[in-house]
Amino acid sequence: MPRPDGGRTVVVTGCAGFIGSTLCEALVAEGRRVVGIDAFTPTYSRDDKEANLAALAGEPRFALVESDLAEDDLGDALAGGTPVVHLAGRPGVRSSFGGGFAECLRDNLCATQRLLEAAIDAGAPRLVWASSSSVYGDAGPGAADEERTPTRPVSPYGVTKRACEDLARLARARGLLTVGLRLFTVYGPRQREDMALRRMCEALCGGPPFPLHGDGSQMRDLTHVDDAVEAVVRALAAPRPAALYNVGGGRPTSLREAVALLERIAGAPMPIGAAGPAAGDVARTSARTERARLDLDWRPRAPLVLGLAGQLEWVRARARRPVAAA
Ligand SMILES: NC(=O)c1ccc[n+]([C@@H]2O[C@H](COP(=O)([O-])OP(=O)(O)OC[C@H]3O[C@@H](n4cnc5c(N)ncnc54)[C@H](O)[C@@H]3O)[C@@H](O)[C@H]2O)c1
Repeated sequence: MPRPDGGRTVVVTGCAGFIGSTLCEALVAEGRRVVGIDAFTPTYSRDDKEANLAALAGEPRFALVESDLAEDDLGDALAGGTPVVHLAGRPGVRSSFGGGFAECLRDNLCATQRLLEAAIDAGAPRLVWASSSSVYGDAGPGAADEERTPTRPVSPYGVTKRACEDLARLARARGLLTVGLRLFTVYGPRQREDMALRRMCEALCGGPPFPLHGDGSQMRDLTHVDDAVEAVVRALAAPRPAALYNVGGGRPTSLREAVALLERIAGAPMPIGAAGPAAGDVARTSARTERARLDLDWRPRAPLVLGLAGQLEWVRARARRPVAAA
């Protein structure tokens, strides 16, 4: 059935976050209207989330709805049967152990189930959402494949994302076309302050030394945020998308290698502090992305060195920003 607005509107949850705000800018730039939902949860500062949205301030094609997916009525925001991109959640492997688990359960599992139900009720045609490489756990030396590699998460965060995949499968069976993207370590400007590459950049810009957990041989399939956003855009448009896709940069990189690359870009040594092994830290993540290439015509394009240089520049500019008067 044709939508009243010609199908140009998209609802984006988690719109004030790292990936969500970057996606909203990309959608508005291609002429779409965006209804962004965010609860400004205190995982990091509200000021930082508002700064993520600064470029969208005053933009007539962007509307912000401050709403909590785990509690609030979502009917109005989803009215009209628009497609939904669900990026809201409580990310972070380490913080999902111990006291953080309650929020992880609430903002990943409960929020996702409530949104899926509301999207079904509103007649949404499609819901693209962020799963995670964490569902694989320690998958061994090869590249993880959506069908053949078993999902054995090794963190409570990964368990909640794995359970969200089951909830999305149930919603698909009820007629909502859900498309889950297993994102592999996303980096770039606005990356969250708890993530390793952000901390490395901060260490190079006068922040605290980078806490290197273990021996630094852990490999991560680093994915530039622009590539992650492009995968979302393509998943919104693909004619017959599968339920799950790996989205990975295609070049697994060790933490030590990332440190060396950033030192070379900065032309300065990075202050490093030794830290013990971290809970939930896997030896390697690596994505097989053949399925996304075939179905979505997507492939990662951002060269790692340029992507890291862009993130370092963003952190530098932020460090130079005047502190607002109290
Ligand atoms: N960044 C990565 O490397 C990565 C990798 C794999 C998966 N993911 C997933 O991608 C999504 C986005 O990650 P990000 O790095 O941009 O995180 P982020 O923390 O920057 O953004 C998430 C946003 O969701 C909002 N939110 C949380 N709970 C909410 C709720 N109950 N109602 C409404 N809004 C809520 C937060 O306020 C925040 O602005 C998350 O689901 C995350 O698990 C991220």
